[in-house]
Amino acid sequence: MEKKTVRDLADEQVRGKRALVRCDFNVPLEGARITDDSRITASVPTIKHLTDRGGRVVLLSHLGRPKGKPDAKYSLQPVAIRLQELLGMPVRFIEATDSEEAIHATRSLADGEVLLLENTRFLGGEEKNDAGLSRALAELGDFYVNDAFGAAHRAHSSTAGVAEYLKPAVAGLLLEKELDYLGKALADPRRPFVAILGGAKISGKIDVIEQMLPKVDAMLIGGAMACTFFRAMGLETGKSLVEEDRVDMAKDILDRAGSKLILPHDAIVAPAMDQPDRAHAVNRAGIPAGEAMFDIGPATAESYARAIGLARTVIWNGPMGVSETPAFAKGTATVAQAMADATGKGAVTIVGGGDSAAAVADAGLSGRMSHVSTGGGASLEFLEGKPLPGVEALEDRAA
Ligand code: 3PG
Repeated sequence: MEKKTVRDLADEQVRGKRALVRCDFNVPLEGARITDDSRITASVPTIKHLTDRGGRVVLLSHLGRPKGKPDAKYSLQPVAIRLQELLGMPVRFIEATDSEEAIHATRSLADGEVLLLENTRFLGGEEKNDAGLSRALAELGDFYVNDAFGAAHRAHSSTAGVAEYLKPAVAGLLLEKELDYLGKALADPRRPFVAILGGAKISGKIDVIEQMLPKVDAMLIGGAMACTFFRAMGLETGKSLVEEDRVDMAKDILDRAGSKLILPHDAIVAPAMDQPDRAHAVNRAGIPAGEAMFDIGPATAESYARAIGLARTVIWNGPMGVSETPAFAKGTATVAQAMADATGKGAVTIVGGGDSAAAVADAGLSGRMSHVSTGGGASLEFLEGKPLPGVEALEDRAA
């Protein structure tokens, strides 16, 4: 880890000081009910690290995309309640973020107390990384901690801008762990190193394919994006989603990748996504003209599971099919189970956030992976080799 972390701070830099901690509490909600609290759970070690040392913890986060103004359905209040249960101590919450009231609340904290402020995206300047807002946020703490890996690919006031005005600016334990797992897998993987990429569109995965192909021993492709490759191979794809404008690019990747890039050899197809009762398996050369691919086929799932079983490092990003629909979810479930089994045999298994993390959670297998990332877009950008603004803004360890 090249960046300073909370563990680099001396006790006197923490005790009695206000730690302004940016978390990613962007959790899925049904009304006020949190349907997946893993991002809140993942923030607990950093908060505890600080409160145990007498820090006064001031938490910031975004939730949803409220477009720069207050919107009650995106309030962080339910998060405060859940966090309080997880920490086993009171978490104060106020409906203010950058105002005098917020500053006053931070100053009234005692050592070891925790305060959560309202959604940073209720503020117009947040997503513009507005310097005035960044300066105002800097008034809320005596030092800054970024633990929001899931939002580290956003150059916003609370994730990046504030670090210019509030020092020390260091990484939290979750951010450090995410960067360590992903960074080590890319820089120094135990081999064989297998990447599994899925999802609907090849366009969203081009950069990660380009970055990872030279590093991996095998890249297994699933999801509808396989169909753009099929088209590039001259196969009939029926009504499957094909990105016509990416077919040439797919051809070029196939030419360069050689045997490393592995495509499904069979598929689950149906006339439409809402006709799962008509799902059936076909060879990839036999996709009917009036049907579309909605999952990898059983032979493919089995051979992907075998490849995962032989790997010593596995990174997975993107489902193999429409995993919300049971008839199209078997490929994703087989990959999840194979990864869990590989972890048991000593492989390092990493699940990129977003849909693949949700699928692993639904299968009850999250605890059987080496690491399930809390960042969907952020882990993808990291794997694409792009710098993450929320990380770049922090102080270097050598400095
Ligand atoms: C995420 O859920 O990927 C992060 O919280 C970032 O959210 P955003 O895509 O709305 O910026």
